[in-house]
Amino acid sequence: MTANPSPSDAPKALSDRGITKPQMQLSQLGITQGQQVTELFSELRSQFDSEVDKDFLEVLWKDFRDTWVGRKTGVLSRITDNWLKPAPPELKRIVGQELNQLRAHVETRLEERRSLIESGSEAIVNAKDRVDLSLPGVIRPIGSHHLIRQVFQEIEDIFFSIGFSVVEGPEIETPYYNFEALNIPEHHAVRDDMDTFYLELPKGAPGPLLLRTHTSPVQIHTMEKRQPPVRVIVPGKVYRRDNPDATHSFMFHQIEGLAVDSDITFCDFTGTIDYFVKQFFGEGVTTRFRPSYFPFTEPSVEFDASCVFCGGSGTAKSGGTCGKCKGSGWIELFGAGMVDPAVYGFVNYDPKKVSGFAFGIGIDRLAMLKYGIDDIQVFFQNDVRFLRQFP
Ligand code: FA5
Repeated sequence: MTANPSPSDAPKALSDRGITKPQMQLSQLGITQGQQVTELFSELRSQFDSEVDKDFLEVLWKDFRDTWVGRKTGVLSRITDNWLKPAPPELKRIVGQELNQLRAHVETRLEERRSLIESGSEAIVNAKDRVDLSLPGVIRPIGSHHLIRQVFQEIEDIFFSIGFSVVEGPEIETPYYNFEALNIPEHHAVRDDMDTFYLELPKGAPGPLLLRTHTSPVQIHTMEKRQPPVRVIVPGKVYRRDNPDATHSFMFHQIEGLAVDSDITFCDFTGTIDYFVKQFFGEGVTTRFRPSYFPFTEPSVEFDASCVFCGGSGTAKSGGTCGKCKGSGWIELFGAGMVDPAVYGFVNYDPKKVSGFAFGIGIDRLAMLKYGIDDIQVFFQNDVRFLRQFP
């Protein structure tokens, strides 16, 4: 037996089963002789026999049974009401005899079928519940890390190898950590580029809270808690009120780096970055830095890598200008710099005794560069056709 086909609750009308005669009287059927009565019953019996052995679903079986022996509307009741009771005296006996024989036959056969069908359904239920331990197990795909997570891991491994450790910080920040302690006072122009989402707070709650625009606030949290030497990287999500396009998302990922000690020089800084870039993109890639500006680093720089697509020549392999670096041979990577002494003032470090560097890498754009992805939005669309390419 398989799933029930949801038949209507009521048994089918006799006429729907092609059984019309028991609903009429013998006189209406033109029956006047005993021989005709016998033929009529024999016709009905054949009809019953042709159906009773069918491979019934349980619910249809009950419907069939009620058609024949149902108390008010079953065939046998109809025969009693329509044939036997109004039968003329000369036919009453034969109708009674035939009806008794048909009843005995129908009831015996129905009982046989009932026990067969019920034991069959029990066997099926048992078979369903049985566990076949020899069958191979269900293999459920366990998925893989998202490409962004893989890139995080790759970068973390590179920095682990040179003595950095990972720290994390809150995504919900106060303006103090996101801006002020990083030497970005209120009304500083840099805040325009870092407009973000503010949380709705209950009346009377202290101060505004925002979604951090960069991982740099964790520089402050770390230095507040630890004394130099500090060598940390900070992977995490950040948020900005940027309109989505091929290179912008309102939520994206960064890795912050911070190294502070008593004798860290600009050479340590550029050497570390060059090491990282070569490990990440390949030995053949060279780096350069250009002057830039961040309120919390001084001097500030922007690091570029030689174009990984044209090998730094500016010419595409197929000839013509390289579309990735637009012919310059360089690709902009990320911002960095020596920690501004003003920042040490916020964390009670003595700027005369310590020095260090910091950097902030946009992971999504770095991954796009390395894996030739031209739309940042694919990272967040959860399309398995994309995700499967990075098992
Ligand atoms: C900063 O966020 C600085 N905190 C980086 C820093 C840290 C500088 C430490 C010096 C010292 P910037 O705003 O340039 O910098 O963002 C850093 C990187 O984030 C960018 O290079 C870019 O890769 C990425 N980025 C910025 N905005 C978006 C955006 N809307 N969508 C995706 N990536 C973005």
